[in-house]
Amino acid sequence: MGGNITSMELYPRPERLLVELRARGIADNAPVLVEMLSEIDQLHYHGTAALDIAIKRAEIGSASRVLEIGSGWGGCARWIAHRAGASVTAVEMQADYDRIGRTLTARAGLDDRVMHVNADFLEFQLAGPYTHVVSWLALFHIPDRPRCLGKIADALEPTGVLWAEDLYARGPVPGNERAAFNARLFPNSLVTIDEYRAGLHQAGLEIMEVEDMSQDWGHFTETRTASFRADRAAFEHRHGSATFEALDRFYDGMASDFARSFVGGLRILARKG
Ligand SMILES: C[S@@+](CC[C@H](N)C(=O)[O-])C[C@H]1O[C@@H](n2cnc3c(N)ncnc32)[C@H](O)[C@@H]1O
Repeated sequence: MGGNITSMELYPRPERLLVELRARGIADNAPVLVEMLSEIDQLHYHGTAALDIAIKRAEIGSASRVLEIGSGWGGCARWIAHRAGASVTAVEMQADYDRIGRTLTARAGLDDRVMHVNADFLEFQLAGPYTHVVSWLALFHIPDRPRCLGKIADALEPTGVLWAEDLYARGPVPGNERAAFNARLFPNSLVTIDEYRAGLHQAGLEIMEVEDMSQDWGHFTETRTASFRADRAAFEHRHGSATFEALDRFYDGMASDFARSFVGGLRILARKG
């Protein structure tokens, strides 16, 4: 289905993160602590708690060489480098998110361990092998799943590990809602769980753990919408009403997509070999 991901309502004004920092008294270009940054730079569910689970279950440590696909502002990459001591290559397609991400990494003093690359993962020149490929809520955006999974397998060393949190197709989206659904999610390769498993197998990735996160993420997205609305006045003061409206439509739509089983959530650990 293609389309321009920069128009996705999850991603208005990447500079809004800098506005949030200013609101916390941190000037542009001033040093920033990862712990503080991580409260506002995570674009997936459950923030750093989800990353700590990945670090533990995928056994990411100081000797790990990690490739992150779809790094957004770089929040996951910085946390993994900071918490586990790993070196991380963070690949992000949107130039403005990548640009802000790399300045934040430098401001956090992590530019010796996190390398940002502004690229479409499918075009990215692999420089591995990596011990881990990780991704949070990005793989469903990437068209041509067999090519994407094949490239992930190529990126990994012989015993390398894939850890991914991703969306999957849980049930049919009515025809008259499909255009809005596609515009909201950019689901360029949203597949069923069975297709997900088959795709990993075909790419030579053996599934070690699969956790269905649908109920948990359904609850998370519902609560997120409610707390976002409760903070409306303060948010609009910082970012304006257009940004509030855009994010509100996205958050509300996402909660509804989970509630109506248009999408489900997955956490996957797979090993090459
Ligand atoms: C939901 S965000 C998650 C960002 C980050 N993983 C996080 O949790 O904070 C998904 C990101 O994947 C990026 N993305 C989508 N398709 C991509 C591709 N083909 N190559 C690289 N990045 C991509 C998007 O631009 C977006 O920043």
